[in-house]
Amino acid sequence: MSAHANHSAPTRVAIVGVGNVGATFAYALLLSGLAAEIVLIDANHARAEGEAMDLNHALPFTHPTRVWAGDYSDCAGAVVTVLTAGAPQNPGETRLDLIKKNAAIWSQIVPQAVKPNPNGILLIATNPVDVLTYAAWKLSGLPAERVIGSGTILDTARFRYLLSQHFAVDARSVHAYIIGEHGDSEVPVWSSANIAGMRLPQFCQAQRVAYDHEAMEKIFLQTRDAAYQIIERKGATYYAVAAGLMRITQAILRNQRTVLSVSSLIRNYHGLDDVCFSLPTVIDRGGVEQLLRLELDSGEIEKLRASAEVLRKTIRSLNLD
Ligand SMILES: NC(=O)c1ccc[n+]([C@@H]2O[C@H](COP(=O)([O-])OP(=O)(O)OC[C@H]3O[C@@H](n4cnc5c(N)ncnc54)[C@H](O)[C@@H]3O)[C@@H](O)[C@H]2O)c1
Repeated sequence: MSAHANHSAPTRVAIVGVGNVGATFAYALLLSGLAAEIVLIDANHARAEGEAMDLNHALPFTHPTRVWAGDYSDCAGAVVTVLTAGAPQNPGETRLDLIKKNAAIWSQIVPQAVKPNPNGILLIATNPVDVLTYAAWKLSGLPAERVIGSGTILDTARFRYLLSQHFAVDARSVHAYIIGEHGDSEVPVWSSANIAGMRLPQFCQAQRVAYDHEAMEKIFLQTRDAAYQIIERKGATYYAVAAGLMRITQAILRNQRTVLSVSSLIRNYHGLDDVCFSLPTVIDRGGVEQLLRLELDSGEIEKLRASAEVLRKTIRSLNLD
């Protein structure tokens, strides 16, 4: 080690809301060894304490990590503060229905999390995630590149998984994005979906199988409606979203410049402005390094406009200005 070694503070990640999603993310983060300190904050402090105790008992099998139930002052110095507090999605309820319940708690949580930590990154998972990402940007006063919503990282993962099953290749070898809202108006980008750089119809041709339009449409519908299907069966979804939050956190902490479909402030993309939704985004230590301006076909642009309009209407109803 050089004489000028940088004795910087231990890497801290704060989690506000340690229910299904927050606790699962905390567990994944502990197993990863990426964070030296994990602070758990919840309105239900006993819940946060219980999770901290349980996680601490995993330390002999994992990595030396300081895990504790704290309060907002402990957000100080956190590289990333993950916001997963809020009401879960009830059966039959759309994500946008949740806005009424979750927008109210946002105006309490966001300023408290940011005040002791003006240099950190906010990573939002609470639904409706795009609207709450926009609200977090407004309420926090942070530069837009440091306010990130998990957005369609989960939908893109579901899409790639289902396509990988159909085409019988590793999900990591399928490159296809869901953009726009994390929710009912989300948009599949078929025009650039590919395996090894081969568009899907080309891939089928090379494999001497027919490109099945109907199966593709079904895959998108399964992707879009997956949350409803899972909630009907087990009441909530949390493993895949926690893995997605992990992937984003890893890209930030390790300055990876990874391309992930996440939600952030959109500025002048196909005439769309002042709204948060997901596009493939380069993520590094500073947060959003760059939004990739995907080339879309005219049908995709139209669908994205409609998706942005759904979000803008909800944002307007919140009177954030
Ligand atoms: N973005 C995604 O892809 C995605 C996926 C799954 C779930 N979600 C969303 O994540 C959120 C959490 O889901 P869950 O299943 O973990 O819910 P949960 O009910 O299990 O946990 C929510 C936690 O938030 C806490 N909380 C509520 N109000 C608070 C406040 N004012 N301050 C601090 N803590 C507060 C609760 O005490 C609880 O522990 C929901 O909005 C859900 O829709 C998002």
